[in-house]
Amino acid sequence: MPCQMVDSFGRKVTGLRIALTPRCNLNCIYCHHEGEAKPEGEISDEMVVSVAKAAAQLGVRSLKFTGGEPLLRPHLAGLIAQMPQDLDISLTTNGIFLAEQAEALAKAGLDRVNVSLDSLRPETYRAITGCREGDLEKVLAGIDAALAADLAPIKLNVVVLKENEAEISGLIDFCREKGLIAQLIELLDLQHLGISGDIDAIEHRLAERADSIRTREMHRRKKYFLDGAEVEVVRPMDNTEFCANCTRLRVTSDGKIKPCLLRSDNLVEIGTCDCERIKALLQEANKRREPYFTITNMQKCDGII
Ligand code: 5AD
Repeated sequence: MPCQMVDSFGRKVTGLRIALTPRCNLNCIYCHHEGEAKPEGEISDEMVVSVAKAAAQLGVRSLKFTGGEPLLRPHLAGLIAQMPQDLDISLTTNGIFLAEQAEALAKAGLDRVNVSLDSLRPETYRAITGCREGDLEKVLAGIDAALAADLAPIKLNVVVLKENEAEISGLIDFCREKGLIAQLIELLDLQHLGISGDIDAIEHRLAERADSIRTREMHRRKKYFLDGAEVEVVRPMDNTEFCANCTRLRVTSDGKIKPCLLRSDNLVEIGTCDCERIKALLQEANKRREPYFTITNMQKCDGII
């Protein structure tokens, strides 16, 4: 019987997200920095490999590399090549360096990518990300390179903001044309910026127009199919169902296991590359998992991270 971590709330751990660096070439107005407060140093390749092996032995099936911007990590293809064969390996990138790396990453064993792209309008994209001239074009070339390298299914991460809410149907059209999955993400507005778009209205329209609707196991996310487009809606904020169906653990860029994106008071320091020891630490982190949003405990997002 293969091993599987399950917490005391009956939630399995099937996915691990590892932040490879806190560094990023963009400065998005909404970024939650994967819930990292003050990272100290970068996790070593050796530790990433050991954590991935340990996780795979404990029933984790998918591994996502995040950042910061994971493509800033030196020798990323070499690291990916060392991952256990049976894991689904993906990464979330802003796409700016993807055109130059997609093929090598695919050859190394990367299965798929999520590309963060909140707007196709240069001015809006710049206002959201603080990007440099020409970056939007690079992201678009990166998406094409990822398609050519068959890093599919490719998801386009779109955080729904006031800045881009009028553009959502255009972004869905873009995804339909390119064969991407649109992933509309509710802003986790931890700093009370008040910049979130009206995701209720958007989801309502999707539900009206959808040919079919599915619910994914993970986070009970809804998926809408309309005119050949596939649109997933991710709604973490104050969502008890989201937390009750969370199947993740995270590793911070400085090598700590993080049981919940929204908490920083229950981390487990790794501090070793010994696979057996890391298995015990992953199990300890699993014990510390608990749903963040619960019926009795809502809207407590103040100043945690
Ligand atoms: N709210 C929702 N999603 C966020 N991301 C980063 N910050 C936030 C936030 N405050 C997600 C986006 C982005 C990825 C890198 O992290 O999906 O595409």
